[in-house]
Amino acid sequence: MSSSLVKRHERVYAPVITWDSDLEIVGAEGAWVSDVEGERYLDFACGISVVNSGHNHPAVVAAAKDQIDKVWHAGGAFRYDSLVNAAENVLEVTPDSIEKIFFMNSGAEAVEAGTKLARKVSGRQGIVAFRGAFHGRTMGSVTYTTSRAKYRQGYHPLLPSVFITPFPHPYRWGMSEEEATEHALLELDLMLKHEITPGEIAAFLVEPVQGEGGYYPAPQRFMNRLGDLCAEHGILMIHDEIQTGFGRTGTWFASDHYEVKPDILLMGKAIANGLPLSAIGATAEVFDAWEPGSHGTTFGGNPVACAAAAANMKALADLIPSTPALSEHAFARFEEMRKSHPTIGDVRGLGLMIGIELVKAGTNDPDPEAFAFLSQHARENRLLILNCGPDGNVIRFIPPLCVTEDELDTAIDTLDAAITAYETI
Ligand SMILES: Cc1ncc(COP(=O)(O)O)c(C=O)c1O
Repeated sequence: MSSSLVKRHERVYAPVITWDSDLEIVGAEGAWVSDVEGERYLDFACGISVVNSGHNHPAVVAAAKDQIDKVWHAGGAFRYDSLVNAAENVLEVTPDSIEKIFFMNSGAEAVEAGTKLARKVSGRQGIVAFRGAFHGRTMGSVTYTTSRAKYRQGYHPLLPSVFITPFPHPYRWGMSEEEATEHALLELDLMLKHEITPGEIAAFLVEPVQGEGGYYPAPQRFMNRLGDLCAEHGILMIHDEIQTGFGRTGTWFASDHYEVKPDILLMGKAIANGLPLSAIGATAEVFDAWEPGSHGTTFGGNPVACAAAAANMKALADLIPSTPALSEHAFARFEEMRKSHPTIGDVRGLGLMIGIELVKAGTNDPDPEAFAFLSQHARENRLLILNCGPDGNVIRFIPPLCVTEDELDTAIDTLDAAITAYETI
């Protein structure tokens, strides 16, 4: 970004967002973006796992443009077909337990709606969330968010009757997956013994793969135990798939990898490939408890965003079948790199949601400076990446699903060179 634009930006805009770079992007296509100087960058930041179909997917752009010429806002005053088309198309790909949908604007808003719905339906107050989770920044959603204490700092008191219990983090805890699961389940049992009875819990709110918290997939046994508790005590299962949804993990939803299915599914980010849209899905029975007027929205289900979403489901249907092979290729390469780079402590994830944890060589101590170095080195070599994890030391490897194997290799080679440079400083 030109220095004058940075100055104008800083003069008028709240400083609260951490901008990952000063690049001024003026064009985007597929896995690539181009800046004002005409330089092209492989964009593996992917708008934080939003442009899963690739930037400016032609069919999605065409659907949005077509809708703009017809009607672009309704606000509940009348009905329009793009909302119904989007609902039908999204419901075709959600887990079978999901029968109806409701549209909103952002992920945090979906989290608010999903947890409000769970309280309303169950008549209970308790919400159980998991340490390391990210669910958003609004007052309710930040109460459930514990990926970093900083996100909550200065905002207390948060919502009451929210209980946080550990999510298995095997690598960080220096444990095997089995041991970490055992430990997390023990803590859950202790919580149910000492803090809240299962009969007072409205819902478990869980990311099947923790995102911002460091790209930790939930172990099967952990999810199964939550599912058993739900069945036994009438607790609702809310899956936050705002980051994991729409092909990111190699299937439409991360829930597809698990036996336990959600009663309420939270969606956002990639649903409309970049236009602001989010949704909650639920069983018809759950939604029936939400009588008209007990929740609402002005912009939710915007006609243009819905038209984009409907077209995006078709675009994703073409891309998702290739995701597992691309994932396997990337994992194999990262595993190979791990053998020769002591800075790589762990490689984990599902599909094209891969976390590469950077540590101080010979330890498992987080190394955030390594990420800072790598990110700059990668940018100088025309690759954009983000981080995650409470220490900011995990590379968040999230290419758009339209990425080719050659583009994947280019990005991985760039990271390999950056790590080599870091290790030889
Ligand atoms: C799992 C998860 N839930 C909720 C959110 C909040 O979404 P938004 O930023 O659209 O409010 C995010 C955003 O990163 C997320 O990853």
